[in-house]
Amino acid sequence: MATSKTVFICSQCGGESPRWLGKCPACGAWNTLVESVAEAPAGGRNRLGSAFAALAPAAPVQPLAAIEAVEVARSPTGQPELDRVLGGGIVAGGVVLIGGDPGIGKSTLLLQALDALQRAGLPTLYVTGEESGPQVALRARRLGLTGSQVPVMAEIQLEKIIATLAAQPPAVAVIDSIQTVYSDQLSSAPGSVAQVRECAAHLTRWAKAAGSAIVLVGHVTKDGQLAGPRVLEHMVDTVLYFEGDTHSAFRLVRAIKNRFGAVNEIGVFAMTEHGLKGVSNPSAIFLSQHAEPVPGSCVLVTLEGTRPLLVEIQALVDGGGPSPRRLSVGLERDRLAMLLAVLHRHGGVATSDQDVFVNAVGGVRISEPAADLAVLLAITSSLRGKPLPKGFIAFGEVGLAGEIRPAPRGQERLREAAKLGFSVAVIPKANAPRKPERALEGLTIHAVDRVDQAMALLRQLDAG
Ligand code: TYD
Ligand code: MG
Repeated sequence: MATSKTVFICSQCGGESPRWLGKCPACGAWNTLVESVAEAPAGGRNRLGSAFAALAPAAPVQPLAAIEAVEVARSPTGQPELDRVLGGGIVAGGVVLIGGDPGIGKSTLLLQALDALQRAGLPTLYVTGEESGPQVALRARRLGLTGSQVPVMAEIQLEKIIATLAAQPPAVAVIDSIQTVYSDQLSSAPGSVAQVRECAAHLTRWAKAAGSAIVLVGHVTKDGQLAGPRVLEHMVDTVLYFEGDTHSAFRLVRAIKNRFGAVNEIGVFAMTEHGLKGVSNPSAIFLSQHAEPVPGSCVLVTLEGTRPLLVEIQALVDGGGPSPRRLSVGLERDRLAMLLAVLHRHGGVATSDQDVFVNAVGGVRISEPAADLAVLLAITSSLRGKPLPKGFIAFGEVGLAGEIRPAPRGQERLREAAKLGFSVAVIPKANAPRKPERALEGLTIHAVDRVDQAMALLRQLDAG
């Protein structure tokens, strides 16, 4: 049945094309089509004819009100920070995809979680395709999981994995990693788009049918996307990303999709000698320690999920050549280009002949627009070579017309900054507290509603 016809599959969206094209016809991404062997459709599946032939017993159609709303059952993983991103624990029949750079701690976290679940009396299974059984045992020893009863299987063939799962369905199974799993039914190589997509689809179907939770570990590419087709993200219920600098101890786990909880909730962990430990009060961990304020540094109060987090934004503006560079780490580069244009037009500060580098300390990725004002102030501070005042924080979105827009839940951000001893805040006018508040004592608040006002304020703070 295997024909040797080739097709081209998009590594972003999984779309197919009979010939190579520079641009994927399905998602429009450039240079993403890779050659792959066409798979013969198994038993005429996906064909309209067979769909009609299988018309016999369909699922019943009911009015919404007649369907009972059942709360999902969740099992806590023994890691409160992981439970937080999952929306309260692992859900029976739910499929979780967890991505992140190599060595960031995916296997470590999942082994710790499985051990806790197993000790709580839930049957588990750890399928390892990357490491051998003895290597997993060594890690467990390092983690201090003595006498762990977690069943471990070193296997990469999908059919054998499903057979093992079916023989003794665990409540929670971890597949580490989905890129190593392959199915006999397909002729393409393990890790190829077709294999990853097919294996994930099979495991997902099995999880739904059996009511077991499955956690798939996924690799990410250089630019931080989950390798393999993006369709993986559509298939699963929850997508978690590990973030952080592998050189620092702190790790963030962020939910970017969750059918069973809030998105953009984050869990914070510290990598220790004995595995990952949750950090329950993380607000100040992404600040670097300067004895005295330095130019080019501005602390941002960002709100990730339900908790405010203080992150230092650093900027370096330096004489560039004829085509100056704009680089950002942890912040969007397009947004940086936009902010520099706004700074020029509405703040009268030109950087067109300068290299501009911006970094969010600690490997955090910040996507909320409320970071804009802190980025602008850090850039201005670096350009002028003058530090912002001691104990300075900022937040607020900057618009193309030079306006400074409010950030959601500004009050909470201010309270967190005051609690941590910050003393000067520059914030959008619409976020300014209407009446004095006990919790904000000691924090001098400057409310601005335009970029030029913020610039004037900086000059005033210099003078004062
Ligand atoms: P790992 O969980 O293997 O990462 P992934 O599965 O995401 O590739 O991460 C292991 C890294 O963490 C490795 O560099 C060593 C370090 N580590 C510790 O610092 N402490 C520990 O207790 C363990 C188990 C690992
Ligand atoms: Mg691993």
